[in-house]
Amino acid sequence: MLVVSIGGSPSPRSRSGVLLERSRHWLQERGVEVVNFQVRDFPAEDLLHARFDSPHVQHFQQVVAQADGLIVATPVYKASFAGALKTLLDLLPERALVHKIVLPIATGGSIAHMLAVDYALKPVLSALKAQETLQGIFADDSQVSYAEGSKPAQLTPALEARLLDSLETFHVALARRPSAVAPGVLNERLISARWSI
Ligand SMILES: Cc1cc2nc3c(=O)[nH]c(=O)nc-3n(C[C@H](O)[C@H](O)[C@H](O)COP(=O)(O)O)c2cc1C
Repeated sequence: MLVVSIGGSPSPRSRSGVLLERSRHWLQERGVEVVNFQVRDFPAEDLLHARFDSPHVQHFQQVVAQADGLIVATPVYKASFAGALKTLLDLLPERALVHKIVLPIATGGSIAHMLAVDYALKPVLSALKAQETLQGIFADDSQVSYAEGSKPAQLTPALEARLLDSLETFHVALARRPSAVAPGVLNERLISARWSI
């Protein structure tokens, strides 16, 4: 099972990044392979000039193509998801998320924009033909603290519980995702189905 995690925050000290990291560890402990990408690690020029032929972008496209699911984490910026994340999602080919399960995660300064994932990010995931986009997680800044010195990053117990619940749902959705049937096998199945009619 392969999951791609995408950190959409331009900031290295990132609350949405804390949730993403927790999610990564949780999945890895259950034997899921997770490949992580951070929007801020891509060359800015590749994103701003929409360089589909950039080696970084092509590598990203290839890993996404192989993934069973994605976790997409973003800060809320100006009542939407981060523009830097949009520049990266814009570089995915049409139908890039077909057959894939997506878990969105967002953090915001207040709950006023807690629906930003629903009205801004989910339509983009849907345009990329995600098979299933889960309810996801929104946290406001008071619920997540960064790691500071020897103090580890922390989530409030209520947020921790919501995150674990979402990850369980994501894990179950990944497991029930039908695996692709090889063209040869499909042909054989169609032939035997005809005989059995
Ligand atoms: C440029 C900018 C715009 C922001 N706009 C909003 C906003 O419209 N609504 C909101 O709730 N929070 C807003 N915030 C606060 C961030 O969403 C919030 O602090 C978030 O947790 C940051 O995530 P990060 O630490 O992963 O970057 C904004 C922050 C910045 C820097």
